[in-house]
Amino acid sequence: MKNIENNLKKLIDIGIALSREKDINILLEKILNEARIISNSDGGTVYLVIDDGKKLNFEIMHTESLNIKFGGSSIAVPDTIYPVKIYNDDGTENIHNVAAVCALEGETINIDDAYTNKKYDFSGTKGFDKKNNYRSKSFLTIPLKNHKDKVIGVLQLINAKKKDDIIKFSHELVNLVEALSSQASVALTNQLLIDEQKNLFRSFIKLVAEALEKKDKVTGGHCNRVPVLTMMIAEEINSDKIGLFKKFLFSEDELDELYVAGWLHDFGKVATPEYIMNKATKLEGLYDKIDEIKFRFEILKRDIEIEYYKNIIEKIDSDNNKALNTKLEQINDDLNFLEKSNIGGEFMSDELQKRIRQIAKKNIMINGERKPILDESEIDFLTISKGTLSQNDRKIMEDHVVLTYDLLSKLPYPDHLKEVPFYAGCHHEKINGKGYPNGYSGDKLPIQARIIAIADVFEGLTAPDRPYKEGYKLSKALTILKYMVDDGEIDKDLFNLFITKKLYLKYANEMITPDQIDSINEKELLG
Ligand SMILES: [Fe+2]
Ligand SMILES: [Fe+2]
Repeated sequence: MKNIENNLKKLIDIGIALSREKDINILLEKILNEARIISNSDGGTVYLVIDDGKKLNFEIMHTESLNIKFGGSSIAVPDTIYPVKIYNDDGTENIHNVAAVCALEGETINIDDAYTNKKYDFSGTKGFDKKNNYRSKSFLTIPLKNHKDKVIGVLQLINAKKKDDIIKFSHELVNLVEALSSQASVALTNQLLIDEQKNLFRSFIKLVAEALEKKDKVTGGHCNRVPVLTMMIAEEINSDKIGLFKKFLFSEDELDELYVAGWLHDFGKVATPEYIMNKATKLEGLYDKIDEIKFRFEILKRDIEIEYYKNIIEKIDSDNNKALNTKLEQINDDLNFLEKSNIGGEFMSDELQKRIRQIAKKNIMINGERKPILDESEIDFLTISKGTLSQNDRKIMEDHVVLTYDLLSKLPYPDHLKEVPFYAGCHHEKINGKGYPNGYSGDKLPIQARIIAIADVFEGLTAPDRPYKEGYKLSKALTILKYMVDDGEIDKDLFNLFITKKLYLKYANEMITPDQIDSINEKELLG
């Protein structure tokens, strides 16, 4: 009675301990350890079913007396140990291997002595024994089943011991190990389900980046690179034991949350029109309207030429050829000016804007109607003083981050991912409160949001695949980042970590083109 009570207590303790383990590999190792202790066996293996139920993979292997330990917290199982086939290549069941049969039938198989057993093929075991001067004798092979009664793994114990003797696994021992295996199966199923969900979610967020890539390569590349840099920074913070971040440590869950936020930070761009995301010229909409204007100027020139020839015919003025050329030259000059203004590379002064309005007054005949050569909206676009985005374009562009927050807020997150929408939605905020969309200042911006913000800017500056714009050299990108730090836009401590730990170089070596990597004066940047 005492023995049963003891075993029961042991089983409950093991069940609790197993249910607490989050790392699958360590969990499997614990399962084997506990099973070996409870049955006093010398060795054992834990297999997991892989390849859609076709194979059993060696996850953990122990032979105590030979000091062999593979998997879990020890070195991984060598690649030379191939998985056991549950089904042969021709699709038939592998009825020769005891672990495979256990997986196929879902029943415990207890063998007293492998060498006298005729049902299964133990030639591999015998080969191992010969090589290691060992004698495998008693085998207990137990299926591990999930909540749907499907075999997900196999636990195999080898050589039960009584003092120095190898004995068979007694009926009582089989019951005990089976009970333990049920506990282990619950813990394993839970962990596998959690891992599956995590994998599914991670694949899903990567799919979002891929969808964005289909829409626009630049944004897709950006969404792939920002999380890489985000996690590089977070990991550096975690390994900083003496510097600015020595007291700061992201937990496993917090890292997961940051990872998801990093991947999804620009999710809202799914709704931003492509022509605004990469607007190359001021007049670019669904196409660049400068071509339309060129047509109108062509009409204007012809109008003038027609007038000239009419005058000749009517003999009003037969000697105005010079005047005609001057007029045409003027028109060409104006058109060149408009084309240059459309690119938006330089700041446009009031004077130059005035010239646009002046040119706009020219008019042409279309369908017998006189029309100005530029309409109001074209004047508005062409007089954009900086860049190519109008105020309205900018608003649409900036709205992506509002949408990121709104859309991400709709997901039912588990507790540890609750802040994903907030961190992602703050990546355009600035420490000095001049960012968007909410103008939050430093006191409202957690370190996670600051990390994504610096990763976002640095990626944007160095992106090697932007159209119409080459990625900046490392030195230029870091100088701009330094200006932003001095202006209170970017977190200074993170920037300093970025420089002192050479994260910029680690990132650059992985993510940008070699010709962008030039020499960096770290002292100057840290000053
Ligand atoms: Fe963004
Ligand atoms: Fe971004």
